[in-house]
Amino acid sequence: MGRSYQLGLFIRGDVDVKDLHQAERFKPSATRRDFLGLAAAWSAVLAFMMAMLGAFRLPMPSVFPESDSKVKLGHPNRFEIGTSTYYPKHQLWLFRDEQGFYAISSICTHLGCVAERKENGKFDCPCHGSKFSVEGEIEGGPAPKGLLWLDLSVSPEGVLVADTLSDVNVGTRLTA
Ligand code: FES
Repeated sequence: MGRSYQLGLFIRGDVDVKDLHQAERFKPSATRRDFLGLAAAWSAVLAFMMAMLGAFRLPMPSVFPESDSKVKLGHPNRFEIGTSTYYPKHQLWLFRDEQGFYAISSICTHLGCVAERKENGKFDCPCHGSKFSVEGEIEGGPAPKGLLWLDLSVSPEGVLVADTLSDVNVGTRLTA
């Protein structure tokens, strides 16, 4: 076709004058804007996928609240006078002495770590150093109060039951 002249414009190449105003002629090839748009779209998809992954990994409580706060501890005859029994699943100690039964929660009243019972019968919290007497009373550290004495009862079947959501005064015994 060669060169054509129309309205003073110089047109190079094999473009027919009648095709000059066809829209396809003005369609740009891939541009930087296309690339950035695509990158943004993929970033959004990736961000969404990461958010979904994160949602599946939401922090789960390490200690689940009991659906039923009543914990069966066993028949009273199982426990000799002068013994202590730990229930790790419920983080409580059951004691029997001459006056009866009592249960002490080993959950520290500061921030909820499990206090360890030492050989001398006292409790130490490994997290921030709270110390408790053999009866769970506060002896030092940041804990605002002593370990809780839990409400004990005997079920209709004759089984000792501790209520992990109900506490009693220090020194309270259950005679069974
Ligand atoms: S949780 Fe026990 S001292 Fe902080």
